[in-house]
Amino acid sequence: MLTIALSKGRILEQTLPLLKKAGLEISDEELNSRKLILDTSLDDVKVIIIRATDVPVFVQHGAADFGISGKDVLLEHGADGLLELLDLGIAQCKLMVAASDEQKLNQNTLKIATKYVNSTKRYFEAKGQQIEIIKLYGAMELAPVVGLSHCIVDLVDTGNTLKANGLVPLEHIIDISSRLVVNAASFKTKNAEIKFWINSIKKNL
Ligand code: ATP
Ligand code: PRP
Repeated sequence: MLTIALSKGRILEQTLPLLKKAGLEISDEELNSRKLILDTSLDDVKVIIIRATDVPVFVQHGAADFGISGKDVLLEHGADGLLELLDLGIAQCKLMVAASDEQKLNQNTLKIATKYVNSTKRYFEAKGQQIEIIKLYGAMELAPVVGLSHCIVDLVDTGNTLKANGLVPLEHIIDISSRLVVNAASFKTKNAEIKFWINSIKKNL
């Protein structure tokens, strides 16, 4: 039995066609149900649907053999006990610093709203800039608009969300895409199966 961890939304939508090309399908009936463990076209493969940030946790503890997770999430998690074996090139975006204008970044202690606490600390530590992090779980773009922070660190794709809230992207931290991550123990015990899926997905990227 092989268990694959995916998250609802963007990752599920963009992963389904890749799995289908690799020979694994999930019926609309399963996808539209409220089930969190989905049957697939193969009896010995199940898909679990969890929050994006929980994917590395399930894989790390072996509750899933492999999963698909954004690099942003992996950088926050630390990816202990996980093998990052394939860049799927889906859900591409950039982790960026954004504010209403560049001057806002000139502060003795820069107040930053973000859910990416670890990546933000690492980036500003390397620059030698003193910061205060305000941890949020979403709608980061609102923080500078209402005076909660000087700037944000968040994902940017088209830039539409920033623009709609009067913000501009200022500093590029890192390019993001989704990665296939494997539980280190599963990679030993189910090596042939996991390699088969990695190669089947890779062939069709
Ligand atoms: P949760 O439901 O746990 O809050 P989420 O809302 O961040 O998770 P999604 O928006 O589906 O979940 O994002 C999943 C992944 O897709 C992110 O971790 C990131 O790697 C990528 N992603 C997020 N926003 C974008 C975007 N605008 N364009 C492209 N990729 C994105
Ligand atoms: C992500 C991210 C930004 C937005 C950037 O949010 O947190 O807000 O996308 O994309 P853009 O540059 O193309 O506008 P998402 O759409 O996932 O919404 P959510 O975080 O509220 O789920």
